Amino acid sequence: MLVLGIESSCDETGAAIVQDDGTVLSDVVQSQVDLHARYGGVVPELASRDHARNIDPVVREALARANLGLDAIDGIAVTNRPGLVGALLVGVQFAKGIAWARGLPLVGVDHLVGHLLAVFLRRRGETEPPPPEFPFVALLVSGGHTAIYHVEGPTAAQCHELGATRDDAAGEAFDKVAKLLGLGYPGGPIIDRLAARGDPTKFPQKAPMASVRSLEFSFSGIKSRMARHVSEHGVPRDEAELEGLCASFQRAVTDVLANKLVQAAQMTNVSRVVLGGGVAANRELRERVRSLARARGLECFVPPLASCTDNAAMIAYAGAARLCRGEKDGWDLTATSQTSL
Ligand code: KG4
Ligand code: ZN
Repeated sequence: MLVLGIESSCDETGAAIVQDDGTVLSDVVQSQVDLHARYGGVVPELASRDHARNIDPVVREALARANLGLDAIDGIAVTNRPGLVGALLVGVQFAKGIAWARGLPLVGVDHLVGHLLAVFLRRRGETEPPPPEFPFVALLVSGGHTAIYHVEGPTAAQCHELGATRDDAAGEAFDKVAKLLGLGYPGGPIIDRLAARGDPTKFPQKAPMASVRSLEFSFSGIKSRMARHVSEHGVPRDEAELEGLCASFQRAVTDVLANKLVQAAQMTNVSRVVLGGGVAANRELRERVRSLARARGLECFVPPLASCTDNAAMIAYAGAARLCRGEKDGWDLTATSQTSL
């Protein structure tokens, strides 16, 4: 089965063609980062307008790169939650239009389920690692969400939240701290790059909720401590100091994320851990999860970078799982800001 996936929940317009076994035939992502950069975050109205401008060429490009016409497609999957409603509606209405015109089945996909299943995608030439079997425990870390799930199968009803952040998402903390330090948007990749050269023991941070045995997180405290540091000492002018500050912040955040993922696997007696979401692109988090899992005898599955950040291939794959079960949505499918998980 070949599925066309469409993603427009935030600041990336995406379209992808994916086979139901996870093989990615094409995956096009048109980023709006430059559009929002000068505001230091996503401006919803600008996002919707840009999706409306880009969705048609992005879908055409996905078909062209796969060397396929719409007649080869068996179903349409579209992100319909959670996200910016105006942005989501662009994708949902576009997907409905194609499905209606071509008589194709249409399924709405929860963006978070897409992130949880991104580890199943296989791009051309990728063979490693083999996809996990169910059940697994997954850490979903993105700009909007941070939570741990027990995943028993590929549908939303089979993904059970074990713990989530009480306040900011991890990606949001990266973005806000980068803004404080005047580093630009999105902050995660910039802090990641600076931290790689920095000394993480320079400004030791206490990992938020690290000592608590619950699977909840909190990142607002560490963000406030960084803000206080900057207001007392200013943004470091010395490069090594800036890198040390980034490295210390990143160490605290990635430590608590990795520790709680492994703790969740042990608490649920599950032997596989999985990463997903934009922050899963973080070098230190990937290494930390891999080494902790190895030490505890857990199998570890970390998607390649392109599958971590927002893309439509993960939406197509999650949609294919529903379509293969004979599920489809009606023309009343709508967009909503709330997740179904
Ligand atoms: O999953 P995603 O692309 O969009 C959402 O669904 O939110 O995640 C975007 C988030 C942003 O906060 C961005 O700063 C963060 O992922 N991010 C990173 C890295 N790459 C992206 N955070 C830390 N290190 C990275 N290398
Ligand atoms: Zn996302």
